[in-house]
Amino acid sequence: MKRRRPLTRIRMIIRVAVLSLCALLVLLVSIYIFKPELLAWAGTEPVESEKLKEPEGEGKEAAVEDGLLSPWRYPDPDESEELDAPPEEVPDESPERPLEAVDGSNLLALVTKQTTLGRYAPTDLEPIPAEIVHPDRRGSKYYLRCEPLGQLKKMFAAAAEDGVQLTVTSAYRSYDTQVSTFNDWVSLDGEEEAQRYSARPGQSEHQLGTTLDFNIDVTAGAEQHAWLADNAHLYGFAMSYPEGAEEVTGYRYEPWHYRYIGVEAAKGWKALGLPLCLYLQQKR
Ligand code: DAL
Ligand code: ZN
Repeated sequence: MKRRRPLTRIRMIIRVAVLSLCALLVLLVSIYIFKPELLAWAGTEPVESEKLKEPEGEGKEAAVEDGLLSPWRYPDPDESEELDAPPEEVPDESPERPLEAVDGSNLLALVTKQTTLGRYAPTDLEPIPAEIVHPDRRGSKYYLRCEPLGQLKKMFAAAAEDGVQLTVTSAYRSYDTQVSTFNDWVSLDGEEEAQRYSARPGQSEHQLGTTLDFNIDVTAGAEQHAWLADNAHLYGFAMSYPEGAEEVTGYRYEPWHYRYIGVEAAKGWKALGLPLCLYLQQKR
């Protein structure tokens, strides 16, 4: 058998080293490009296709008809809120300009399609304990301002005493997160439809740090819904988008979406039975 000369062996070693380096480079580039899918595979983040997964056929149509398409069931890209998320491109503002600028630190701030919070961000956000976040959402952190968080904990304890298990499926969303959320819904459903259930950046009550979505959806959640409808105001929470009020609120019925306005104001809201935006308008 022919013996390899030292020079040939060195060449081979160099060749193997170069090939290994190339393979490593390809691997690193792939990890960089496919990071979300890899994270999803590892169980930490939904893959894009899952994020935008729609219910099949008639299911979705019926849900949309009923105005009950709960974004949390069809996972909302908002859900990995990063407090220091980098700014993203801002979509076109609502056509009804000029928008009235409102102060988001006011618990009674009027947040509608005619107003804007600008890039307001609360300064007293605190993380919501993971045990009251929906199990499917515990991979992400959720935040709420200090006062509503304290009231939320009391409300959850009261609901549990009544045998009702509430969980949080969404909470604070920054301006930048709302940019992605709104854009993602527009890609999925088109702008005309999306703006009926998703707020444009600067116009979401979630940006206030006082607003939550609960585990109420199309097929389940009647018990939670009824309990919240009867009791949430006692803890300062009001449901912002009631049934049959799209003309007034600009949004479809969202039985899962509650905003903290303080106990006294929430009791006043409940007593009057007005859509929240009309009540807040009256209180100005
Ligand atoms: N789903 C409500 C309207 C929001 O996006 O704030
Ligand atoms: Zn909501």
